[in-house]
Amino acid sequence: MANRKVTYLPELVDNNIELSVRHLKQFFKFGHGKNAFVTKAVHDISFDIKKGECFGVVGESGCGKTTTGRTLIRLYKATSGSVYFKGYRIVAGNRWNEKEIKWKRIKTNRKIRDLKNEMNEKIRVLSDEQGNKEFVESESAKIRDQYNAQIEKLKTDLAALIKEQKEKIAQHNYDNKHVDKKLMSKMQMIFQDPVDSLDPRMTVEDIIQEGLHIQGQYNAFENSQKVREALIKVGLLPEYASRYPHEFSGGQRQRIGIARALIMNPDFLICDEPISALDVSIRAQIINLLNNLKDEMGLTIMFIAHDLSVVKYFCDRIAVMYFGNIVELASSDELFKNPLHPYTRALLSAIPKPDPLSEKERKRYIYVPANEHDYSKEAPSLVEITPGHFVMANTEELEKYRKVLNENK
Ligand SMILES: Nc1ncnc2c1ncn2[C@@H]1O[C@H](COP(=O)(O)OP(=O)(O)OP(=O)(O)O)[C@@H](O)[C@H]1O
Ligand SMILES: [Mg+2]
Repeated sequence: MANRKVTYLPELVDNNIELSVRHLKQFFKFGHGKNAFVTKAVHDISFDIKKGECFGVVGESGCGKTTTGRTLIRLYKATSGSVYFKGYRIVAGNRWNEKEIKWKRIKTNRKIRDLKNEMNEKIRVLSDEQGNKEFVESESAKIRDQYNAQIEKLKTDLAALIKEQKEKIAQHNYDNKHVDKKLMSKMQMIFQDPVDSLDPRMTVEDIIQEGLHIQGQYNAFENSQKVREALIKVGLLPEYASRYPHEFSGGQRQRIGIARALIMNPDFLICDEPISALDVSIRAQIINLLNNLKDEMGLTIMFIAHDLSVVKYFCDRIAVMYFGNIVELASSDELFKNPLHPYTRALLSAIPKPDPLSEKERKRYIYVPANEHDYSKEAPSLVEITPGHFVMANTEELEKYRKVLNENK
């Protein structure tokens, strides 16, 4: 369609929202046919990240943090849901819409079949009971008309839904296809593994300037200058540009990864556990570096980590992830003051205390979902329990959490 436009939500920009994630799902399918199985790495998550804030994502290994980051930056094709960056839709998945069509079709066909059976039964009973042939025929015609009208209504409803969903799918495909490269260059990611994420056959200079080439910037002199500036920014010497990744320590490699992201002059940075692979002594350096860069460049950051102690001081808000879902989301202060979800409490109990006496008394709390929740009667959803504090719960659990909040007051 010639006059289609990329979906843009001005209200996000008006509300200072840099990135908005809506019902994002990322499934991985293995195998074919009957033997196929699906890993639901990210299962329906929604959140907004405000301009200039640092948003932490915390959860145990395999809960879907990296997958979320990679989907946001379009390294994976999203299964369903949307992501908006600076108001523009950059990710849109179709699975939900396709399923909607499929289920509506199945349900409608089932209803039509039932209606037809009901109609035939009524006509059969009528002709069995009445001897008058003319009367039976005129009554049967009335019944037929009545049922056919209902069936027609179901068919038109189905056609309307299919048309609506197909239009949405077409818009999603259009949005995915027409994502602005320049816009995407404003979103960069620092990858989890500082060793594997750098190509060993490329020099540091080539690695760092690769993004510029993708953007079509080939001026060798300018690029080289930018590489040097980026190296200085992350605290490395410009002379390192001609070396290869294996010649560096883990901390230095992580800095190279950061320089590679910074050279694109990003507004939004996804830091995927940038310090987990590093020595404790170097961790503080990298955190300080990111903090300085954040202030200097006015960056918005999504900071992924697997324990809460790291994000506590660095992040304004924290989302706790468990098995592909966000189970709690609140400001850092609120989350540490009033942790509600048992998984958040388990993560908090894992943080070592600096005082040896209280550390001795610290009890590790292990989260076992089967012991904590009974979702047989009512499924949970992410509910805003106090302004800005979201927790995954059903009605019964919400009551319980409200009591806890009142007691903590
Ligand atoms: N490319 C892929 N293909 C298939 N499955 C994948 C892929 N990437 C991730 N997964 C699966 O998705 C789930 C989430 O993985 P992910 O890497 O996002 O976890 P994570 O939270 O980043 O863990 P960690 O803290 O160990 O880095 C895992 O079960 C993983 O096996
Ligand atoms: Mg990861």
